[in-house]
Amino acid sequence: MHLGRLHLPCFALCLSLSMACEPASERKPPVRPDDTADASASASVTEIDTALGGQIYDKWFKVEGYTGGFSPDAKTTEAIDGVAGPNDDGTLNNRDGQPVANTGHDYRLKNLFGWDLRGTEGVYGPDYQNKSYVRATNLLTDTRTPAELVAWFTRGDDTLPAFGEVLSPAQIEALVGFVVAVRDGALPRPDQIFALSTDAPKNYTLVDGADAAAGTASFGQRCSGCHGDAGQEILIDGDYTVGAFGRMKAYEGWLKVLNGHPGSPMARQSDDAQEILNIFAALCDRTAFPPHDAEHEVADGDLRCGAYLK
Ligand code: HEC
Repeated sequence: MHLGRLHLPCFALCLSLSMACEPASERKPPVRPDDTADASASASVTEIDTALGGQIYDKWFKVEGYTGGFSPDAKTTEAIDGVAGPNDDGTLNNRDGQPVANTGHDYRLKNLFGWDLRGTEGVYGPDYQNKSYVRATNLLTDTRTPAELVAWFTRGDDTLPAFGEVLSPAQIEALVGFVVAVRDGALPRPDQIFALSTDAPKNYTLVDGADAAAGTASFGQRCSGCHGDAGQEILIDGDYTVGAFGRMKAYEGWLKVLNGHPGSPMARQSDDAQEILNIFAALCDRTAFPPHDAEHEVADGDLRCGAYLK
């Protein structure tokens, strides 16, 4: 299978971006790729690394290639005590150059829009996990063009940080490539993996239609080399085997399988929605994929795995 990169049409992002970032008086005429090249060359496609874009969405200051040393200002301390960024203190600025306070989002896009990209309509919204910092924009129903999204993420708005101050144009292009690919169905969409639930812990349930046996086979091919045959070799956040994590936080784990885990050797593992669903259904088997301890495990009848729980 073809993993890691998707071919998407060139958005002409760089052109619109360089114009968007400069005051009108300083605008230079757009640079054409090569006016002497033949017509077929100008119709070429740009390779957008949507896995990198997804990791930027997850935790931009941990991705490979980011060298800014940013560490967010801690929300729990009174002092502004982060590292690096445009103010050299772990804050980012809004469109008007004013620092955006860290209310717990740590300037991560997954916090500002949720692990399902749906903003307040999604898993972090008021009907579900009710995170105070999640924004109203649903990136999956947003109709802006890629170039408009690039300009928005680059400059920010009144409360959205201006990510152009810490990310390169290519990184923002990858971020937008990821968002648009999920939105338009070129990559798996969250609703192919889980449904929102007001009853279930963490407010999600895996959707129907998984083949858990196929998921076990995929786990053996793609995951066990690092996580171990029973998923116990890496303890996630110190306490979760990959099995327990899958049973308790698949709404987050789906994005890790899709894009990789920023700052770790785990790269994109699958860009196939059915395969990702199958893997999380397989991880619902508590015997095949045991927990680290009873505290980090689901109870009998837990709704997150639904009928897949064994
Ligand atoms: C190249 C090694 C490697 C492979 C292959 C791999 N992982 Fe990982 N995975 C890791 C490492 C390392 C971490 C980070 C653990 C940490 O620091 O908490 C991780 C973290 C995770 C996390 C938790 C991320 C978080 O939020 O902290 C999940 C879920 C996960 N892996 C699932 C999988 C699944 C499912 C597969 C197979 C489809 C897989 N991994 C394949 C190495 C790997």
